[in-house]
Amino acid sequence: MDVTSHNNNHKTNGIHLNGHTNGFKTHKNGHVNGVNGKNGKNGSHKKDWRDDFHESFEETPLVVAIFTYISYIIIVLIGYIRDYLRYLGIDRDQTLHEPIIEGFVPLYQSWENFYKRNMYNRVGDCCNRPIGTMAGPTMDVLDWKAEHFGKSLELTGDRIPAMNFGSYNYLGFSENNGLCAATAIETLCNTSIGVSSSRQEMGYLQIHQELDKLTAEFLGVDDAITFPMGFGTNSMNLPCFMEPGCLLLSDELNHASLVLGSRLTGATIKVFKHNNMEDLEKKLKNAIVEGQPKTHRPWRKILIVVEGIYSMEGSIVRLPEILRLKKKYKVYVYLDEAHSIGALGPHGRGVTDYFGINPKEVDILMGTFSKSFGAAGGYIGGSRSIINYLRTRSYTNVYSCSMSPPVTQQIITSMRIIMGRMCGNDGLRRIRQLAWNTRYVRRRLREFGFIVYGNKDSPVIPIIIYYPAKLATLERECLQAGLGIVIAGFPATTIIESRSRLCLSAGHTKEMLDKALDILIGIGTKLRLNYSRLPKTPEFREDDSILIRD
Ligand SMILES: Cc1ncc(COP(=O)(O)O)c(C=O)c1O
Repeated sequence: MDVTSHNNNHKTNGIHLNGHTNGFKTHKNGHVNGVNGKNGKNGSHKKDWRDDFHESFEETPLVVAIFTYISYIIIVLIGYIRDYLRYLGIDRDQTLHEPIIEGFVPLYQSWENFYKRNMYNRVGDCCNRPIGTMAGPTMDVLDWKAEHFGKSLELTGDRIPAMNFGSYNYLGFSENNGLCAATAIETLCNTSIGVSSSRQEMGYLQIHQELDKLTAEFLGVDDAITFPMGFGTNSMNLPCFMEPGCLLLSDELNHASLVLGSRLTGATIKVFKHNNMEDLEKKLKNAIVEGQPKTHRPWRKILIVVEGIYSMEGSIVRLPEILRLKKKYKVYVYLDEAHSIGALGPHGRGVTDYFGINPKEVDILMGTFSKSFGAAGGYIGGSRSIINYLRTRSYTNVYSCSMSPPVTQQIITSMRIIMGRMCGNDGLRRIRQLAWNTRYVRRRLREFGFIVYGNKDSPVIPIIIYYPAKLATLERECLQAGLGIVIAGFPATTIIESRSRLCLSAGHTKEMLDKALDILIGIGTKLRLNYSRLPKTPEFREDDSILIRD
C-alpha cells in the first residue's frame, strides 16, 4: 500500500501580525504560515497539505512474508528441541526454568522466558551496545561477545569507531564542545548538578523559570511547564487531565509512556488504527452515540492522544485532519512531539510549524528535550489555565526532583540557537541540513530498492528487513564496516516487519551519508534486501531544502 494523498479543502489560518523569526514573517505567537516544511509567500499559499504529504508503507511481498514466518517457525522449533535436550540434561545451557523457590509461583511468564532463551539471546549482542564516547554523529562502540550461550555479554576491551545513525540527535546538539557545552559548564560552576528538591519545595530555580518561559515562546503558546523526564511527562501528567468516566482515543502505535499514562487515568481507552482518520472518526462517533459503558451517560471529557512523528514507522500525524475532528466533535487533543519538535517545520517548531497551523489550536502540546535539544526532560505547553493547573496538580512537579541546572542550560542555549537568537543562523542551518539529509537518504535508499517506511520528511527512517537472521547480520556487518544502526524485531514490531531504524542528524555530513549509504547498499546487495516494487524515483527531491553554508 503506497499512501500518497491529494485533496483540496484545507485552509490555513492566514492572519499575519508582526515579528520575524529566522527571517520569516510570523504570527503574534511566533507561529509562521507554511505547509510541509515550506514557508508560504506572505502567507498567500493556497496549497493543500495533502498535495505534499508523501508517506509510504509498502505491502510485504507475499513470498517474503511466507519465508519470514517459516524462519520464525524454524527458530521456535529449534527452541523447543533445545528445551527438551535441556530437560534431559543433554544441552549444557541449563536455563530452562527460573530457579524455583518453594511456595512461590514463577515470576516470569513462560513464553517470555522461552523467547529470551531461544531467540533474543542469539542476537543479544546486536542490542543495547555500550558506547564509549559521546553519542554524537560519530562514536566508539565498546565491543563485546556473547558468553554462556548468550546469557551474558563480556566486553572484549576493543573499541569500534562508527558513524552513529541510531541516536535521536536530530539537530546535532549532542556535542561536547561549542556554545551549548560551554554554557552548561558555566551554569554548573554557578549552581550545581542536582537541586535535591522538587519544584514545590526548594527546587524551583530561576533557570527553570527561564526555561518555562522560553519554551512557551518557542512553541508559540501562552505558557509551558518543564519536567526532568520525558517519559514521566506523559505517564504522570495524563492522569491529571483524565479520570474514570472520560474517553481517551489513542493511536495504536503511541509510545509506551502514553500507553502507561493513559492506563493510569482510569478512563475508558479506545485504540484507533495508526494515523487512520476514518477509523478515528468512526470510533469517536460511535463512542459519542453510545456514551459511557452500562450507564450510557455522556462522557465527561474526550481526549485524542497522538504523536508528531512515530518513531518506529517514520510517519507524521495527520494533524489538520485531527484538528478538523476536534472541532467537529468538540474534543480535546494531546500531541506528543518527542520526535518532531526541532526536527520538523521550517523553524523546527514541530508538526504545527510543518503544517502551518497555529499551535494554539492544539490543547496540550507535549515534547521532550532528549532528542533535538541534546539534553533530557520534557515539557507541556498550552493555555495559561492548563499550565497553572499542572503546576499544582502534576505528580512530577510536586513529588519529583526538578531538572538538573546544566541540563536546563543545554536546553536553553540550544533552543535559543534554533530560534535564531544566538549563533546567527546556525539554528536555521541545522534545520535545513536535517531536512536535506532526510530526503537525500530516503531517495537513495528507495533508488536501491529498500522498502522504506514513513513520510518523506521524517528523519526517522525504518528500513524493513523481514527475516530475523538478516536483521542481525545487517547490524553486525554494518558495525564492522563502521556504521552503527539500531535494529528492532518481534515483539517490538509485528512478526514479519523486523526493521532497522536510521535516525538522521544535522551533524551528518554529505560524506558521512554517502559512506553510510555505500555500506548499507553493499550489505543490502549481499543480503538481497531490495524487495521494493515501487518506482525507483520518488515523488520528492532533497534540493527543495536550501542549505545554508557555515
Ligand atoms: C513519543 C515519545 N514520547 C515520550 C518519550 C520519552 O521521552 P524521554 O526518553 O525523553 O524520557 C519518547 C522516548 O523516546 C517518545 O518516543
